[in-house]
Parts: sequence; structure tokens; C-alpha cells
Amino acid sequence: MADLDGTAANKDFYLDIPARREAFFLKGSHSLDWGMQNRLAHIFNPASGRTVMLAIDHGYFQGPTTGLERVDVGIVPLLSYTDALMLTRGILRTSIPASYANGVVLRGTGGPSILKELSNEELAVDMEDALRLNVSAVAVQVYIGGEFETRTVHNLTRMVDLGNRHGIAVLGVTAVGKEMTRDARYLRLACRICAELGAHIVKTYYCADDFETVTASCPVPIVMAGGKKLPELEALRMAYNAVSKGAAGVDMGRNIFQSEAPAAMIQAVRKVVHEMMKPEHAFDLYQTLRSETGTRTQI
Ligand code: R5P
Repeated sequence: MADLDGTAANKDFYLDIPARREAFFLKGSHSLDWGMQNRLAHIFNPASGRTVMLAIDHGYFQGPTTGLERVDVGIVPLLSYTDALMLTRGILRTSIPASYANGVVLRGTGGPSILKELSNEELAVDMEDALRLNVSAVAVQVYIGGEFETRTVHNLTRMVDLGNRHGIAVLGVTAVGKEMTRDARYLRLACRICAELGAHIVKTYYCADDFETVTASCPVPIVMAGGKKLPELEALRMAYNAVSKGAAGVDMGRNIFQSEAPAAMIQAVRKVVHEMMKPEHAFDLYQTLRSETGTRTQI
């Protein structure tokens, strides 16, 4: 009978304090349900509004990629520096400790290997399995202008329907075919289509000219893909420019795990993304940490 212990006179309903109404911190995400917002807050750091997502899903079409030959050896030591991890369910189940508490973005499409036409993808995971794995989002590759464009767009819309039903976010990944130009005009087209069709986050490449028009015309957060391995200072400059021009962080793979010193590199990337450290200073930090933590071959 605990309810009878106190009287209304002893209670304080704070009648002079309006109910808190906090806007959700991510662009375009204010009308999402609590579960979806909560999952997005596992990917993006609510303090900075940005993410350092480590992409290690490359094996889904190209096998044991350089730097990912042994995820348990090369990647697990980096987990504490990530806000989120993008990967396949096979690597998640076999190689990532279940104590990992940050965001998991599950590769949700696949099919062709590097030996075939890459745009010929289909859904490669059931939303029920994504739920069982407690992931924050699923990733769908979308090949705008590609041979199987419509199929990949359909993969996205199907996954968005399932994601909305279950509160799992969908990351639309704008894939660029070999002959396609990565200019702002193309990236605007691809990113906007993903967002219009319901993607909650979009991943795209950086372009030197007019990248701010790509982020401005996309109503949901954009994360920058790293692309092929660059010298560390160049990669840090690219990340800095991307967040300066409106990206909500990075989803980088090769420029971290193929770095000579991945642990040093991801820490430098964090400084750039979350604290807007100038690339030159972040590179100094990289070099200092590199001498302290050692290189990839010394793991
Ligand atoms: C490629 O299709 C995968 O989705 C990767 O996650 C993506 O390419 C990002 O990795 P990277 O920074 O190596 O380009």
C-alpha cells in the first residue's frame, strides 16, 4: 500500500516547470520513433552529432581484403576507438566480441563477387536476423546509373519498409561504378534518391568541388566513405573537409585498416571528426601515436 504513504500535499509536480521537449540531434530524424532514434544515437555521438564508423565489410564481395585478413588480430584492438562498426553478419558472429556496445551497421545486401557485375545485388540478410543481432542499422548498396540500378533501389525500399516496421535504421550506400564520375552532380543525385526513398543515413564519397551542395541537398545525415588508401595526411584532410562541409562523420575502411598504424590513424581521425582538429595537427598526433603503438606489421 505504498501509494497511501504520502499525501498529495507532500508531492511536488513542478507545476512551474514546462515538460522537457528536446529536439533529436540528427538532421531529418526528428519524427522517427524512439527505438530508431535510440539506435541512431548508438551510431552518432550525441555530443558532437558525428560518427567515426569503421567499415570492414569489404570481404562480402572481395574476400580477405588487405588489412582484414584476420579481423580478430587486426580490427578487434581498434574497437574502443570506434563509434560504430560496419560489417557482415559472418564477421560479426565469428570475430567481434558480443561485449562491443557501440553501433553495429550490418551489411544487408550482396551477391556478386569482384569477378562479376557488382550492381547485381540482392538482399542478403533477413530483418529478423538483424534484430537477433541487435544491430543499429542495416546497409544497402545503391547503384544509381548502374546496370542493375532498379534492383538495388528496390533493395533499399524493401529494407526501409522492414526497418521502419522494426525500428532499425537503413544506411543507403551510394556505390560508384568503375566508369562513373564522383562529382557533386552525380553524388547529389545518388544521395538525394536514397534519402527520398527513405534511407535514414546516406554514405557517399567526398568530392573536392561543391561537396557542401551534396550534404545540403540531402535531408538526412551523410557519412563520408574513405575510398582507396591515401597517404595519412591526405586522408585526414579529406575527413576534415567533409565534416567542415556538412558530413555527419565518416565511414572509413581502407584509410584506417590499411594504414601503417591503424590504431594511431583512427585516433587521429576521431580528433578531426569530433573536435575539428586541423589535419596537420592530427597528422602530428598520428605520428606520435604511431611511434608509441607501433605499426600494423608489429601487431
Ligand atoms: C564497399 O562497398 C564497402 O561498403 C565499404 O564499406 C566502403 O567502400 C567503405 O570503405 P572504404 O573507406 O574502404 O572505401
